[in-house]
Amino acid sequence: MSKEKTIKIFNKIDELSAFFGNIIVEKLQKKTDDEYFTIALSGGSTPKYIFQYLAKNFREKINWNRILVFWGDERCVQPDDEESNYKMACDFLLNRVNIPQENIFRIFGESNPDDEAVRYSELIKSKLSLNKSFPTFDLVFLGLGDDGHTASIFQNNLNLFKTTKLFDVAIHPKTKQKRITASGTLINFAKTIVFIVTGKAKAEVVSSILNKDGIWEKLPASHVKPKNGKLIWLLDKDAASVFLETPN
Ligand code: 6PG
Repeated sequence: MSKEKTIKIFNKIDELSAFFGNIIVEKLQKKTDDEYFTIALSGGSTPKYIFQYLAKNFREKINWNRILVFWGDERCVQPDDEESNYKMACDFLLNRVNIPQENIFRIFGESNPDDEAVRYSELIKSKLSLNKSFPTFDLVFLGLGDDGHTASIFQNNLNLFKTTKLFDVAIHPKTKQKRITASGTLINFAKTIVFIVTGKAKAEVVSSILNKDGIWEKLPASHVKPKNGKLIWLLDKDAASVFLETPN
């Protein structure tokens, strides 16, 4: 059983971004030449700077031909909508590196949500390697909401950590926006799970999860525990500020 989790705290977002880029480089090097590296991207705003940094500094360091890109979740919107996680990834990363279009597998946010959850689950089964007959991402990149959600697993659907489904439909508790999300089961099968969290607004929830205090068990991100893989938290100083103050 791998050690529970690795926590790294960075003074500068560039250092955090470089560390994340090097995780991909190092893991890709361990693949044989005919193997792909499968990654599920996070949405939201945090990844924007990380993606921009990767596009600028890892354009040549990562052989993007060997990367297959998926998403951990998508909003049920058109792909050219400003809310689209696919659009954000294209704008900040995928349109700026030499990755073949056929390596990019977006979630069809514009489709019927129930139908798309099934379609994308079948796609994942067909593209990912299997571990104990379950599809396994090489890396899942997760963000963290200030309410403790991750991907689009909210406090109202913690059952997604117990389901056998790969992807399902979720509803944002505040905006009521429909989302397609990876299940917690699928996330926890990943070989490497990386949370990237920045900013003071996340400091309390980060501390609650990492210190297992307060309502931590109600927070979806607390249930991200890789079955056989590694869990890595990459934080900036602001996001780690309460965690660092809390004696543990
Ligand atoms: C999404 C993300 C979601 C995100 C958190 C944090 O589709 O919004 O997948 O899980 O990572 O909400 O979002 P920010 O990075 O914008 O704070």
